[in-house]
Amino acid sequence: MTDLPRTPSFSLTGQTALVTGASSGIGQGCAVALAEAGAHVVCAARGVDKLNDTVAALKDAGHSAEALSLDQSDLEALGTLMAERAFDVVVNSAGLARHGPALETTPEDFDAVAGLNLRAAYFLSTYAAKAMIAAGKPGSIIHISSQMGHVGGIDRAVYCATKHGLEGMVKAMAIEWGPAQVRINTVCPTFIRTPLTQSTFDNPERAAWITEKIKLGRVGEVEDIMGAVLYLASKASALVTGTSMLIDGGWTAD
Ligand SMILES: NC(=O)c1ccc[n+]([C@@H]2O[C@H](COP(=O)([O-])OP(=O)(O)OC[C@H]3O[C@@H](n4cnc5c(N)ncnc54)[C@H](OP(=O)(O)O)[C@@H]3O)[C@@H](O)[C@H]2O)c1
Repeated sequence: MTDLPRTPSFSLTGQTALVTGASSGIGQGCAVALAEAGAHVVCAARGVDKLNDTVAALKDAGHSAEALSLDQSDLEALGTLMAERAFDVVVNSAGLARHGPALETTPEDFDAVAGLNLRAAYFLSTYAAKAMIAAGKPGSIIHISSQMGHVGGIDRAVYCATKHGLEGMVKAMAIEWGPAQVRINTVCPTFIRTPLTQSTFDNPERAAWITEKIKLGRVGEVEDIMGAVLYLASKASALVTGTSMLIDGGWTAD
């Protein structure tokens, strides 16, 4: 009888995952996806109320989760956390946007967006990888980047700069950490309906731009991202590192 190949496991049973930005939008969806696959999920964000609501709902659904209040821009607090806890999976969904013409960007806007989207993401990655390497265990680090890490967008110079930066960072880190079996990738969504994008969807001109660019004819929902994150977190993606998964409805196809 032929020995058939076996589909790799998507289970995360016995694993601990950190999800940043877990109290809202895409991060909350990621926390659910990993918890449903069996991981214990540490849900991080700054605001305690929404975080506690998310964790309570996860526990109510029979999952294992805890809340962690953290300002990710505070590298000292981030470093302490990552030195104290060992994570098998880290999903970074905390992010910020301040859209407007590049000619009107202030240094304060630049620092705020770059500080969270790139600087904090960079050091979250290095702290996580250091702990994974020290533990001698394979690990998966996943950043929620954006289709705007691959193309430009109207009024999005700062945001695009940080997301393009994230894409380059991930490639370089993948080269460095591959031998230790620490994988690092990005997921690049198109416009997803979350609190972050509400003002863009409320602008009729921008809403028309979005539906025209998405070939599949609809904006994304949080659920569209969950499968990709679970794939990158699990053994099913054991040979995947230094790359990005575009979930853009075909936005970047032309
Ligand atoms: N929605 C989209 O269309 C879209 C498309 C492409 C990429 N993305 C990316 O996906 C990620 C998540 O976006 P989203 O739409 O889900 O946003 P969201 O609904 O606004 O959620 C952002 C999350 O990040 C947390 N956060 C913000 N600043 C933080 C900080 N300094 N420290 C720790 N946590 C912080 C927020 O909680 P607190 O405010 O309580 O801290 C919240 O949990 C971002 O990186 C975004 O760039 C989004």
